[in-house]
Amino acid sequence: MTSGKSMSPSMRLDNQVAVVTGSGSGLGQAIAIAFAEAGATVVVTDLAQRLHNAKKTRDRIIQLGRKSVAVSLNVTSIRSIRRMVKKTIDQYGRIDILVNNAGVNISKPAVEVTEDDWDKVLDVNLKGVFFCCQEVGRTMIERRFGKIINVASQNGVIGYYNRAAYCSSKAGVVNLTRVLAIEWASKNINVNAIGPTFVRTPLTDKLFQEESFTNEVLRRIPLGRLGQPEDITGSVVFLASSAAQLITGHTLLIDGGWTAI
Ligand SMILES: NC(=O)c1ccc[n+]([C@@H]2O[C@H](COP(=O)([O-])OP(=O)(O)OC[C@H]3O[C@@H](n4cnc5c(N)ncnc54)[C@H](O)[C@@H]3O)[C@@H](O)[C@H]2O)c1
Repeated sequence: MTSGKSMSPSMRLDNQVAVVTGSGSGLGQAIAIAFAEAGATVVVTDLAQRLHNAKKTRDRIIQLGRKSVAVSLNVTSIRSIRRMVKKTIDQYGRIDILVNNAGVNISKPAVEVTEDDWDKVLDVNLKGVFFCCQEVGRTMIERRFGKIINVASQNGVIGYYNRAAYCSSKAGVVNLTRVLAIEWASKNINVNAIGPTFVRTPLTDKLFQEESFTNEVLRRIPLGRLGQPEDITGSVVFLASSAAQLITGHTLLIDGGWTAI
């Protein structure tokens, strides 16, 4: 040991202030709860019309003995992002961790994708991620501390049928993660992404009601099963923690081996 500091990396997030976008359901909700279990204060955010879901996540976090508020947020609106950042800073004084999780998908053959479909998917999945990073990043730059984790997808590094807009948006997130990591490295801000395979959530539930689709997906996953939200949360807690201090610009694939073939 060269200093008096402990050499054991910690995955605790005690007293860290975390914002998770789209945390009223699915992966975002699981991430918010995992953060609370790791000791963090969590700002749970979702669209105004889904704020009741965000409040349920908040209540579960408070039951765990952590602090939490539910704040409405539409990531496609810079004004809404600014309002959320202000509310968070007013309430807790800072943002240590940002998870850009909010996302949508419209599955269609490429020839049927409309301009509206394209704009909707790119606005939430890529523009929304960028402007949340920018607004929160400004406050992190001032404090010279921050951890940003973008929820991309395995579909950010490989293609998949009927997902021209979705795959494009997630590939954008993977490379945006690298750019911000480089720009903000000198400000002590780590920017990483995760790339999950198919996980059963409200976003994908309908897809998996179709047996042929489920079998086609399972055939491509060497570990032989779909993801559960709990398969994803450990990686996000890790990337938010001091154990991942030297990792930046990386996309951690959580894909059961899909992209290893
Ligand atoms: N489920 C999967 O198989 C899977 C795989 C890889 C990546 N992902 C990604 O994980 C993330 C979460 O997906 P999920 O499966 O939990 O889906 P979900 O539909 O359960 O949750 C998405 C959340 O984002 C919110 N949201 C949508 N538009 C928003 C907006 N404009 N502003 C703020 N919030 C908004 C929704 O209200 C919802 O709470 C997405 O980015 C998705 O692309 C999911």
